[in-house]
Amino acid sequence: MAGRYSIVDFREMKKEKKQISMLTAYDFPTAQLLDEAGVEMILVGDSLGMVVLGYEDTLSVTLTDMIHHGKAVVRGSKQAFVVVDMPFLTYHINSEDALRNAGKLIQETGAQGVKLEGGQEIIAAVRAITGAGIPVMGHLGLTPQSAGQLGGFKVQGKDPQVARKMVEDAEALEEAGAFSLVLECVPWQLAQAITQRVSIPVIGIGAGKNCDGQVLVYHDVMGLFTGKRPKFVKQYVDARSEMLKGVKRYLKEVQEGSFPEEKHTFSMSESVLEEALKEG
Ligand code: KIV
Repeated sequence: MAGRYSIVDFREMKKEKKQISMLTAYDFPTAQLLDEAGVEMILVGDSLGMVVLGYEDTLSVTLTDMIHHGKAVVRGSKQAFVVVDMPFLTYHINSEDALRNAGKLIQETGAQGVKLEGGQEIIAAVRAITGAGIPVMGHLGLTPQSAGQLGGFKVQGKDPQVARKMVEDAEALEEAGAFSLVLECVPWQLAQAITQRVSIPVIGIGAGKNCDGQVLVYHDVMGLFTGKRPKFVKQYVDARSEMLKGVKRYLKEVQEGSFPEEKHTFSMSESVLEEALKEG
């Protein structure tokens, strides 16, 4: 791959029924790792707040946080298309404000796109941002920034009114120029219907296997997050146990004096040391 993936590649992948892989990243080494593995899209999600910054939810994450972490992810990747989440209240006030904040995220991080949670209620903001040429990814279903209003972190779209609205929201996002959308925690049948209905790629998280791609939170996949793990998460590695073992070995060796060894140590000639320590 010469250069980064683009929205044209994702459109092609949907047409050719090739699955799109997306994972979250919040720092330089993780972005390097995901890029090296060949992940096509990296999301600098506002899950940052929970898995990296230790908040209870995503609402405390600021534009400054997203810019700081977004920059590191862009620096660490060469091929992946990087999407940065717009934090809570950075696109809800009015569409001018939304465009200004999206522009700031793109200009300061160098990311390729932004993600916004919500459907028809934020469509003016989506239109303003896409109208300025910034790729927008939508996010429907369980939208963590409005979890309070949704009654918590629950499956969305099990009743006909909510399911109907989700279909209409997906169509509205497509019509407003979004290049893709995430469906989170949605029954697979509804996710499949929406995926078939819109021409933009649908990336699922807890939305079954019939979407155009999948996204998961890196810390969940690697077993690094100690909080509650949703049913839709698959943990591929227990990295935390390995890391804990490493820290404990280090601690033991420092305490017993077996680290550092000679090979980790610099030396100088006795005469130079004597010279340096001579009085007067
Ligand atoms: O913030 C995030 O990581 C997300 C994913 C869960 C899609 O929005």
